Amino acid sequence: MHQRETLKINGKGHLEIGGCDCVDLAKQFGTPLYVFDEKYIRKMARTYKQTIDLNYGGNGLVLYASKAFSCKAIYKIADSEGIGCDVVSGGELYTAFQAGFPAKKIYFHGNNKTVEELTEAVKSGVGGVIVDSYREADILDGIAKAKGVRQNVLIRINPGVEAHTHAYIQTARTDSKFGFSISDGTAYNITTHILTLKNLNLQGFHCHIGSQIFEKQSFVLAANKVMDFIADVKAKLNFEAATLNIGGGFGIHYTDDDPVLTEKDYAEYLTMLIDAIKAKAGEHKLSLPYLLIEPGRSIVGEAGITLYTVGAIKDIPGIKKYVAIDGGMFENPRYALYQSKYTVVKANDMNAECTQKVTIAGKCCESGDLIAVDVPLPEVESGDILAVLSTGAYNYSMASNYNRNFIPQAILVNDGKAETIIKKQTYEDLVRNDVIPERLG
Ligand SMILES: Cc1ncc(COP(=O)(O)O)c(C=O)c1O
Repeated sequence: MHQRETLKINGKGHLEIGGCDCVDLAKQFGTPLYVFDEKYIRKMARTYKQTIDLNYGGNGLVLYASKAFSCKAIYKIADSEGIGCDVVSGGELYTAFQAGFPAKKIYFHGNNKTVEELTEAVKSGVGGVIVDSYREADILDGIAKAKGVRQNVLIRINPGVEAHTHAYIQTARTDSKFGFSISDGTAYNITTHILTLKNLNLQGFHCHIGSQIFEKQSFVLAANKVMDFIADVKAKLNFEAATLNIGGGFGIHYTDDDPVLTEKDYAEYLTMLIDAIKAKAGEHKLSLPYLLIEPGRSIVGEAGITLYTVGAIKDIPGIKKYVAIDGGMFENPRYALYQSKYTVVKANDMNAECTQKVTIAGKCCESGDLIAVDVPLPEVESGDILAVLSTGAYNYSMASNYNRNFIPQAILVNDGKAETIIKKQTYEDLVRNDVIPERLG
C-alpha cells in the first residue's frame, strides 16, 4: 500500500484514514462501510481548479462528474470548492438541487435523456445540456420554445481517439452509443442542424475519450482533433465554438500495476491539455474557448475505501482460498462487471507480512460475486477487518439491493472526525416500494 498524508498505518498497526482508526470506524459504524476522506476530495477539486486559474486565466470550470459518487454531501463539497458538476440523470440532478447546487454550474449528459429529464433541465436553468442525438435536439428545442428560453447546449462528438490505461490508438471508430463522429461527418451534420434550431444556443463541443487513462498523449490528441474540428466548422459555417468540454478520464492507483500520481501529476496532465488547446487556437487563429473538464474518478476514487469484516474462510487445497466478507457485488459490482483490480489490506494488522494469495468473495448468491482474485494478504481469520482501497468512484454509484442486501452506510472522515453522509438502509427501506395486489390476499 502506498501511504499518503491521509491514508497511513498508525501506532497501533491499524489502517488510518482522515485521522480515524479503521478498526474503530468498523466498530462504531459496522461493516461493510464506505469511508470517504474529505481532505483528499478537496485537494483534488482544488488541484484542477487552480490549474485552470493559473494556466488558463480562470477561463473555465471544473465539473465534478457526479456519476462517480453522487450524494448530497459530495455536491456540498464540490460547491464549496467553487467547482461545478455534471449529471446524467434526473436523479443526480435532483440530488444536486437538494444540496442547493447552483443550476448554472450543472451540465446534463446522457445518450437517451427522457422528455421529463430534459424538461426539468430547461425548467431549472442548468448551465448546459450536452446533446447526443437529433431526437434530443428537436425535443429540447420544443421544450425551450414552450418555456420561452434559449437553452445552452454542447454537442457530444467523437474525436476518434480510443484511450486505454497505458496506451492510446487513433481510430475512425463510429461504433459508440455516445456522440457524433468527426471522421464520418455526422458531427458536422448535427452542428448544421442545431444551428438551425432557434431555441437552442450552441455553445460548443464536448468529448470524453474513456476512463482510467494514464497516457497523456491521448488527451492531447483528442484536444487537437476537437480544435481542428472547431476550426473546420468555423471556416465552413462561420460559427466559432465558445466552449470546449474535454471530459474526464484521468487514471488513479488501484494496484501496484498503476502509477502513483500526486496532485502535481494531475496538474501536469491538465496543463499539457491546456498547452495543446492554446497551440491549436494559435495555429487556427481561434479565440481560446471556455474550458470545461469533467474529472470524476480522480477526485473521489482514491479518497474512498471500503471496510469489511471477514466471515467464512474456505480453503480448497491446491486450488484457491476464499475469504468471504460481509459485502459483495451489491456494494461493489466492479469485479463482476469488468474484472477490476483492487488492493486489499488487513486493516487491524497492517504490519503483518503477506504470506498467501486469497480471493475475496462476497456474500451474494452468485459464483462471480468476487471483489478481488488472488491478492496477497497476511493470515486472516473470521472477525478481522479488511479494507479495499480506492473504492470511492463507481462503487456506491453502482450499488444495488441484489439479494435484498442493504446498500451500506457512507461516512466522511476529516481530522479524526467521522460523520455519516449516507445512512445504512433498513429492512423497511427494502420493502418501501413493494405492493401486494389485493387479489393476492
Ligand atoms: C461524459 C463523461 N464525462 C466524465 C466522466 C468521468 O470520467 P472519470 O471518472 O474517468 O474522470 C465520464 C465517465 O464515464 C463520462 O462518461
